[in-house]
Amino acid sequence: MQVNKEIKRVTTHTLQEMKNSGEKIAMLTAYDYSMATVVDSGGIDVLLVGDSASMVMAGYETTLPITLDQMIYHANSVVRGTKRALVVVDLPFGSYQGNSKEALNSAIRMMKESGAHAVKLEGGKEIAESVERIVAAGIPVMGHLGLTPQSIYKFGTYTVRAKEQAEADKLKNDIKILETVGCFAVVLEKIPATLAAEATSSVHIPTIGIGAGNACDGQVLVINDMIGLTKGFTPRFLRQYLNMFDEINKAVGYYVKDVKAGNFPNQKEQY
Ligand code: KIV
Repeated sequence: MQVNKEIKRVTTHTLQEMKNSGEKIAMLTAYDYSMATVVDSGGIDVLLVGDSASMVMAGYETTLPITLDQMIYHANSVVRGTKRALVVVDLPFGSYQGNSKEALNSAIRMMKESGAHAVKLEGGKEIAESVERIVAAGIPVMGHLGLTPQSIYKFGTYTVRAKEQAEADKLKNDIKILETVGCFAVVLEKIPATLAAEATSSVHIPTIGIGAGNACDGQVLVINDMIGLTKGFTPRFLRQYLNMFDEINKAVGYYVKDVKAGNFPNQKEQY
């Protein structure tokens, strides 16, 4: 007999319970409906509609060009493809840095128009007022510290952040601030594993690492990198589970050959 298993949606409370019980949180990005259905059915806890869409979907060099309207479009598609995962969406560069009213308006637009469950903002103390205001409006906020790609032109490089004491101290202070103003979780990107471990144990909310070692409460990767669709991107923190670029490349080659040879479609593939 087919049992109709009820699918229970992951919430911010589920993530907190996972941290409390020591169960690791698995998060991946997705940007469209089809990929969201696959990743969601694979058992992912959190789907991040990252502004990395600017790079992997639109082909820009950085995350900066993508707009709020474009992020809403991606998020909306992902939400429709998701039954179980918590869907978190990046507020893009320029949509929240101006002031806390602008940040709140962007977050409200995102929630209303995409149907997502939470937003993510980059930064610490500088965005604390905005986070507080967004959370006060009932919108869950995920923080993001360490290598924050929207500040790439300030950093000048994608190398590991917070190796110097002053930056490490700022990060340790920032994560406490983000917890105080109500973030439900914080992404820690490309920082020393020891610092990530210290930051993780200093707060009650979960941390999600990317290039931040194993002590974080969860891990996140960009789906296109993780399945090997991004050619030639091989940072140390990336574990590539498939080689989709080569697989698709091969399939396209076979298809081109079949079409050119007049072998596709065959008798069974026509009406
Ligand atoms: O935009 C993104 O994909 C992200 C992850 C790398 C955390 O912010």
